[in-house]
Amino acid sequence: MKLKINTIDADQGQKVAIITGTGNGIGKATAELLLKKGYLVFGYSRTNKINHPNFTFTPIDLSDLGQVNDLTLPIISSNNVLLINNAATIGSIVPFDKKETSDIINEYNLNLVSPTILCRKFITTYTYQEKLLINIGSGAANSPIPSWSIYCATKAALDMLTQVIAEENHKNLRVFSVHPGIVDTNMQKTIRGTEEHLFPLLSKFTAYHSKNELETTTIAAQKLHYIIQNSNEFIKNILSIRDVNLK
Ligand SMILES: NC(=O)c1ccc[n+]([C@@H]2O[C@H](COP(=O)([O-])OP(=O)(O)OC[C@H]3O[C@@H](n4cnc5c(N)ncnc54)[C@H](OP(=O)(O)O)[C@@H]3O)[C@@H](O)[C@H]2O)c1
Repeated sequence: MKLKINTIDADQGQKVAIITGTGNGIGKATAELLLKKGYLVFGYSRTNKINHPNFTFTPIDLSDLGQVNDLTLPIISSNNVLLINNAATIGSIVPFDKKETSDIINEYNLNLVSPTILCRKFITTYTYQEKLLINIGSGAANSPIPSWSIYCATKAALDMLTQVIAEENHKNLRVFSVHPGIVDTNMQKTIRGTEEHLFPLLSKFTAYHSKNELETTTIAAQKLHYIIQNSNEFIKNILSIRDVNLK
């Protein structure tokens, strides 16, 4: 069964954003900001709290590859399309030998296989349109953090996927992996809620919180928006929103 096909007869100049993980956190804040900036936004996650005339929500479990494979991206006439692969999970925070096979599979599917399939669908659906593809990465791609095995592995792979796509010079496509820094979301709450015997770096993450060092989702979304608006300025494909200074 194919999931919902949206045919949108927007004018060619209308900006369109397709965002995964709009249920909470960075994805929700980014969707809300882009709606304020006049985008048509298509959100994909398991739950939704956004209610806006220019927001179209499709419920989907992105760790279920059958659902991802069946997903058809909206057919739009606009010449300006953005995909943000944002949905991800930190996964079960346990030393590698304690990982359940079912968790390993779900975490790879949600964090890596599903965004990879969506990157390909995005490029092939909007061949002739101006496309901006943003994979939300993580500093964990470059840091082997104990008890985050699958998270680190998937984010490292997503960075490499981004770089290979960039090397291939696809028609009308710019592609980036954007690392958001440490942002105050449910993901950080989950990390702080782990027991120390399972997560040796727990005190580092509770300290970020107690010293108020977490970025808000509002600022993270604004910095992401700066990158979206000024994507021609950036030469590297792997970016950190920490490098963006909002005036
Ligand atoms: N927060 C940080 O400090 C931080 C740091 C580095 C990178 N990141 C990255 O930033 C991105 C957003 O993270 P966040 O901090 O905003 O996390 P979050 O608050 O946990 O949000 C995760 C988002 O993904 C969606 N999602 C989770 N499982 C899903 C599934 N099976 N199917 C569909 N959607 C699913 C959630 O919506 P539903 O629950 O409604 O499905 C939610 O919108 C992720 O890629 C994360 O790796 C975050």
